[in-house]
Amino acid sequence: MARINENFLKLQAGYLFPEIGRRVKAFCAANPEADVIKMGIGDVTQPLPSAIIKAMHTAVDEMASSETFRGYGPEQGYGFLREAIAKNDYQQFGIQVDADEIFVSDGSKCDGGNILDIFGDDNRIAVLDPVYPVYVDTNVMAGHTGPADDNGRYEKLVYMAVTAENNFEPELPSEPVDIIYLCYPNNPTGVVATHAMLSKWVEYAEKNNSIILYDAAYAAFVSDPEIPRSIFEIPGARKVAIEMRSFSKNAGFTGIRCAFTVVPKELMGSTKSGEQHAIHTLWNRRHCTKFNGVSYPVQRGAEAAYSEEGKAQINELIDFYMNNAKLLREGLTAMGFEVFGGENAPYVWIKTPAETTSWEFFDHLLEKCHIVGTPGSGFGAAGEGYFRLSAFNSLENTEAALKRIQDSVSAGIQ
Ligand code: MLT
Repeated sequence: MARINENFLKLQAGYLFPEIGRRVKAFCAANPEADVIKMGIGDVTQPLPSAIIKAMHTAVDEMASSETFRGYGPEQGYGFLREAIAKNDYQQFGIQVDADEIFVSDGSKCDGGNILDIFGDDNRIAVLDPVYPVYVDTNVMAGHTGPADDNGRYEKLVYMAVTAENNFEPELPSEPVDIIYLCYPNNPTGVVATHAMLSKWVEYAEKNNSIILYDAAYAAFVSDPEIPRSIFEIPGARKVAIEMRSFSKNAGFTGIRCAFTVVPKELMGSTKSGEQHAIHTLWNRRHCTKFNGVSYPVQRGAEAAYSEEGKAQINELIDFYMNNAKLLREGLTAMGFEVFGGENAPYVWIKTPAETTSWEFFDHLLEKCHIVGTPGSGFGAAGEGYFRLSAFNSLENTEAALKRIQDSVSAGIQ
């Protein structure tokens, strides 16, 4: 009989978001009249910017004529998109990233999991806690961990707690680690990293020969000019970091699929015997072998995100979602909740009322307010007692959700 990858059996329950979906489906089936507001998964709600739609339509029309038809594209992405990314996301801010260091893909979640193909099985891996579950689960699947303990923490992973107690600033690991996952603006807490914080990590990585996997999927939501959007703003980062970014949240591509990963040419990894190899070469090899590129119309759509019209429309979208974040932050604070994030990120992270676990608060909001959020404990043990609300929604729903929570608080059943 065919043998399975037994590492999958170590995984806890279901992946967080499908698990929430399952509970919501059951609730809706039992309460078909309930008008449920979904603020759980960070999925965009607004239509694509018209500049992007126009570019995609034109690209589809090109496919209809033999003169302009295109088959397989370059696996790493078309030059027009890689150039646009390099110029607009990096070079115009004085950050050195060349177009051929950019690998276009179908999502940061996919890249985050796929990147493990090029790393060995004996790296010590550090993650923040709470953490975007993909970083942990993909390492479990790859056999990089032991079993989970009662708190859901896997043996062999190094967890760095980020809570209100340490002002969401992780302590550097006390033991040397080889791979460090960082995500800023942070999912799920919505907090950001300062230059000083990232510099500390870059120094740590230089000293310990570690590699930072930097997830900057929410970079576009940073409005504070003092807050770095890219790890490559930090001197020395090109030698120690990989950065992942996405069009999902800023340009509304969650259903369209386009993202990219930046692998600087200087970044090296080592064999067991100490021989150094360029990570760029390995990733290029992996990408070309297992991926055939993002579709042409989608890449043209992503390119249009950098046109003058596209940029203006995307800024409007970001302002729209960030207004929701502001309403949530201010509204919940006024109701007496302790609220974090939501200033340079589309998530607010709230402390659940005393003695209420994250999942109890989830059930309360769902049953009493018909609101779906994400329980903090689903992101890790240190997320217990916290709850995430997403600002990706309509203004109407955001306002309605706040009113329902206010009514529930006023009724004394907070
Ligand atoms: C989230 O809600 O954390 C994200 O939408 C998940 C994702 O981007 O994959």
